[in-house]
Amino acid sequence: MLKGERVTLRAIEESDYDRLAKFARDVEIHVIADDEPPVPRSFDQIKEDYQELQKKQNEIVVFAIEADGAVIGSCSVHRFDYTARTCALGITIGDRNFWGKGYGRDAVRLLVEYAFHHLNLRKVHLTVRSDNERAVRAYEAVGFVSEGLQRQHVWMDGAYRDWISMGLLRSEWAGPSRTT
Ligand SMILES: CC(C)(COP(=O)(O)OP(=O)(O)OC[C@H]1O[C@@H](n2cnc3c(N)ncnc32)[C@H](O)[C@@H]1OP(=O)(O)O)[C@@H](O)C(=O)NCCC(=O)NCCS
Repeated sequence: MLKGERVTLRAIEESDYDRLAKFARDVEIHVIADDEPPVPRSFDQIKEDYQELQKKQNEIVVFAIEADGAVIGSCSVHRFDYTARTCALGITIGDRNFWGKGYGRDAVRLLVEYAFHHLNLRKVHLTVRSDNERAVRAYEAVGFVSEGLQRQHVWMDGAYRDWISMGLLRSEWAGPSRTT
């Protein structure tokens, strides 16, 4: 649906669930990305959760991230505020082989384009662990800036972690690339 230089963002298909469930059960990845503690989830629960999210497209729009013919993760825009015209962004590339090679920033760029160009929103925001340098740098590469650091704000992976809010205004955005 949305085609970038390295990734395509598209609907989640039945054949994606094996890999998406594997990613969702990877505790090391969970504790980098999610401020909720990990809980055990069966394949069926994970699949149902994704299916439920896909029925709530007025609240959250979820995409599979595809690269080299396989799903490598998922991402979303959510928490739509149609008064302030803002939304939040989330992303997890679950296949570590695709980390640090520009796939994440490509997906984030497409999500931002989706929010501004298709949803006519005005600002995209997110939160990230301050020591998640890979994520911070990928977001910065797309134009996100830090809007403040909350000290020892979350408990993740056995420690209190600093939490950074980042945002990108439409007026700062470089503009659409090649949405198809
Ligand atoms: C965060 C994530 C989406 C980023 O995607 P990615 O494809 O890995 O990121 P990119 O390759 O586009 O950019 C990574 C940047 O971090 C740098 N980087 C790579 N490995 C790094 C490391 N070990 N430590 C610090 N920086 C690193 C890269 O050099 C690049 O920055 P640069 O272009 O300024 O040099 C992906 O790594 C991921 O899903 N991680 C696990 C879940 C997660 O953290 N989600 C985000 C929660 S807020």
